[in-house]
Amino acid sequence: MKKTRVQGVFMRGRDLATLNLDKGNSVYKEVLVKDGKNEYRMWNPKRSKLGAAIMKNIRGVNIKKGDKVLYLGAASGTTPSHVSDIVGKEGYVFCLEMSARVLRDLVFVAESRKNMFPILADARSIDSYKNMVPECDVIYQDIASPQQTDILIRNCDEFLKDGGYVYFAVKSRSIDVTANPNKIFQEVEKRLKSHFKIIDKKRLEPFKKDHMFFVLEKKRVLNK
Ligand SMILES: C[S@@+](CC[C@H](N)C(=O)[O-])C[C@H]1O[C@@H](n2cnc3c(N)ncnc32)[C@H](O)[C@@H]1O
Repeated sequence: MKKTRVQGVFMRGRDLATLNLDKGNSVYKEVLVKDGKNEYRMWNPKRSKLGAAIMKNIRGVNIKKGDKVLYLGAASGTTPSHVSDIVGKEGYVFCLEMSARVLRDLVFVAESRKNMFPILADARSIDSYKNMVPECDVIYQDIASPQQTDILIRNCDEFLKDGGYVYFAVKSRSIDVTANPNKIFQEVEKRLKSHFKIIDKKRLEPFKKDHMFFVLEKKRVLNK
């Protein structure tokens, strides 16, 4: 297994992997690979937009060991589990999901991954979870909703530290099924620019159709 330029992410041949924090267990039937004393979980970029963005060489993915991550739209934990591997046992992944049915699966995953904290809540209702989430180093958002940009900005205002990083997956069809995806992505980017520095962006084809993945840095407030 070889290190990549992304901290905590490895490659075997052309395939991505993370170091398994929960040895012996897989999360979504991904393959486990032993290498010396270590065990790695292969990371399928067709199942994970972060994995797809890394495969497309996006710049600025620097989630670190010990980081606190707020993950909006955690579903059953596929990508959150790889983020959990990356932040390691000193880190935290607050996994917000509004569907009780999918969160149930994530609760099983979190039983043996002590750095994952499932939260059943709607990312539009910050008051309902603000007592459970501290200031974070990273916010990841993948909620496929027409208001996803506004929801991201409000959560970053509340929870993201100045200079903190954002990983944002936008699905054009969730915003407008009929519009040209390029036009949607341009409008989203224009709105993002007033709050964030855009570090990089990549379309996710061939892994995901009509998706854009943004890496953003929250602007620092001077003279606070
Ligand atoms: C595309 S899936 C996320 C997949 C996940 N990020 C992964 O890679 O493993 C989007 C999820 O966002 C959730 N979602 C949509 N709107 C939401 C909201 N307002 N608050 C919280 N979760 C939401 C959906 O229930 C769904 O499970």
